Amino acid sequence: MPVGGKTKVAGVMGWPVAHSLSPRLHGFWLAEHGIDGVFVPLPVKPENFADALRALPKLGFVGASVTLPHKEAALALADEVDPVARRIGAVNTLIVRPDGGVLGRNTDAFGFMESLRESAPRWRADAGAAVVLGAGGAARAVVAALLEAGVSEIRVVNRTVERARELARAMAPATKGAVVARPWAERAAALAGAALVVNTTSLGMQGQPPLDLDLAPLPATATVADIVYAPLETPLLKAARARGLAGVDGLGMLLHQGRPAFAAWFGIEPQVTPALRAAVLADRAG
Ligand code: ATR
Repeated sequence: MPVGGKTKVAGVMGWPVAHSLSPRLHGFWLAEHGIDGVFVPLPVKPENFADALRALPKLGFVGASVTLPHKEAALALADEVDPVARRIGAVNTLIVRPDGGVLGRNTDAFGFMESLRESAPRWRADAGAAVVLGAGGAARAVVAALLEAGVSEIRVVNRTVERARELARAMAPATKGAVVARPWAERAAALAGAALVVNTTSLGMQGQPPLDLDLAPLPATATVADIVYAPLETPLLKAARARGLAGVDGLGMLLHQGRPAFAAWFGIEPQVTPALRAAVLADRAG
């Protein structure tokens, strides 16, 4: 649809932002639904982020996605923050309210859970412990999602074990579920009896070393999820497939996290389909 005077405008704020798949994701949905809207990359340096966020309502934007390195700053600057985002400590979606205030939300936990349910429909929250590798912002979103789903034991394994302990302290009090920290050296042992393992570290990403993890202690019924999506099949997911375990790639979380954002900005609930996956991945190596 050609841009006109009434076109709704949203975008993604990041630095760098050139690698972001969000313009393709939201651009696909806009075209699919014939919506009079555009979604543009917004390269915003960290020192300009506060001004950029404040400018969204002034420029008539309906909102914006927020990616690295701005997610924590967005939490601090939004006029209103939803409880999930506050719990995770990061905002990935900004919505301009009718009164010009900016609402901050976090849809990463939703995106992870929807992707898990889509790609591993046999996984159940009560099937056993979950192991989360990593303790950064992505790990917090995954842990929040698992607690919300009712997982009763989450083992957070991180190279810097103190960060895992901090995450456990921050996430556990509000729930019945137990979040326990485990040192990196015990990552294989932590898999014993687990129903789910999730990699939230950057290991296995293009240009990074693979995640060195022996999957042997995992039960044959376990599910393996990676939030890395470049490459789509990480060495971890390859190893899971070799063992016949259910695998969940990282692209699903990225696509599903966009759904509530798109619905808030443009008023239509979009779907994740094979055609969307293909469009987002087109011309991409890996
Ligand atoms: P994000 O917010 O995207 O999750 P992050 O906060 O930088 O990113 O977290 C990256 C995660 O990958 C961390 O858990 C990090 O471990 P540390 O907390 O010890 O830094 C983990 N990570 C990165 N490189 C790693 C490596 N070579 N070995 C083990 N863990 C690594």
